[in-house]
Amino acid sequence: MASNKLLLFPGDGIGPEIMEEVKKVISWLSENGEDTFEYEEGLVGGSAYDVHGCAISEEDMVKAQAADAVIFGAVGGPKWDDVPYDVRPEAGLLRLRKDLGLFANLRPAICYPALADASSLKKDIIEGLDILIVRELTGGVYFGEPKEIIELGNGQKRGIDTQVYDSYEIERIAGVAFDLARTRGNKVCSMEKRNVMKSGVLWNEVVTSTHKADYADVELEHMLADAGGMQLVRWPKQFDVIVTDNLFGDMLSDVAAMLTGSLGMLPSASLGATDETTGKRKALYEPVHGSAPDIAGAGAANPIAMIASFAMALRYSFQKIAEADMLEKAISNALDKGLRTKDIAQQGEATITTAQMGDAIVAELNALAGVS
Ligand code: NAD
Ligand code: IPM
Ligand code: MN
Repeated sequence: MASNKLLLFPGDGIGPEIMEEVKKVISWLSENGEDTFEYEEGLVGGSAYDVHGCAISEEDMVKAQAADAVIFGAVGGPKWDDVPYDVRPEAGLLRLRKDLGLFANLRPAICYPALADASSLKKDIIEGLDILIVRELTGGVYFGEPKEIIELGNGQKRGIDTQVYDSYEIERIAGVAFDLARTRGNKVCSMEKRNVMKSGVLWNEVVTSTHKADYADVELEHMLADAGGMQLVRWPKQFDVIVTDNLFGDMLSDVAAMLTGSLGMLPSASLGATDETTGKRKALYEPVHGSAPDIAGAGAANPIAMIASFAMALRYSFQKIAEADMLEKAISNALDKGLRTKDIAQQGEATITTAQMGDAIVAELNALAGVS
């Protein structure tokens, strides 16, 4: 029996609330599965700032490097609006991504059958939707230098962010997208803005050459990212895998989230390269949504994005495919029974709390596993 080591970062706002629900699932698996999961907790974001004066301590960075997988809630909130930029809550998450080398962010958007009416789009547009956004996560304008505000000396200031991509960064994320496409609809759509950005020209060029060299069997299409956003809302089922840069991926995945009914539904996996000697890869699993300060503390947060992110951990870090499938099925079954947190409820529909949704998913796990 193996023991897997998780590091949990609940974070801020609704982060700790949804993490409590994942803990129920982790305990259930340890009690009922083949392997056990041990976990430690760390501080990140505003909660780390309040204790350490920075968005993540060196000690917690060391723990994150050593963990088999990091499970991350959410960070940020108005309480920390005025803290210095370098120690703002979001800096903790960005450091984890960069220092752990988590360049591949997988953001699947799946419309659960029971929620086909919950989207702001018409049912036939999103029913059966199953797309995957592969977002480059350690490059682009998020990390490019220079990144600063400078005084121009004439009373004016200049804010500078720099979009930088090297060909190896594009090639490796394209490889991830093509490999994943082969396991699903065998189709990749690459999105950039080559009409205005040099990095977009290079992106298009490298994705095309990677395709030609190693993935000619996969269907490849290119789209300008603004048109891609429009197409995602017009007819999202035309897509299988979308591969795009850090910033476009951030925005397009929030759009994709709403196709599924709520930001509270969208999980993600952030993966590093596989170590050739150990066969292991660093990984962090987090919902796509943020700390939702507007509902924090109200028991109204939907824990499904967080729990489905743990299902991705089972799939990608622990090769526990049957358990991952079972957990996703448990989520689906809870939704089929009409259980709804507020964000996915139709007007007038009864709602349940964050904890009740977590309990309901554990009850479905029990039912699926035949445990009383
Ligand atoms: P948000 O995702 O926190 O919230 C947007 C809207 O979606 C809100 O109305 C919120 O109530 C709702 N929502 C989000 N998650 C939900 C859930 N699980 N259940 C029900 N409703 C949910 O985005 P925001 O308001 O723009 O950002 C708030 C803070 O979160 C900011 O400080 C931002 O930087 C941070 N943020 C953090 C992460 C992260 O930690 N990964 C991601 C995005 C935003
Ligand atoms: C996300 C978030 C983060 C991002 C923030 C909190 C740094 O919006 O994961 O989607 O912009 O990548
Ligand atoms: Mn985002």
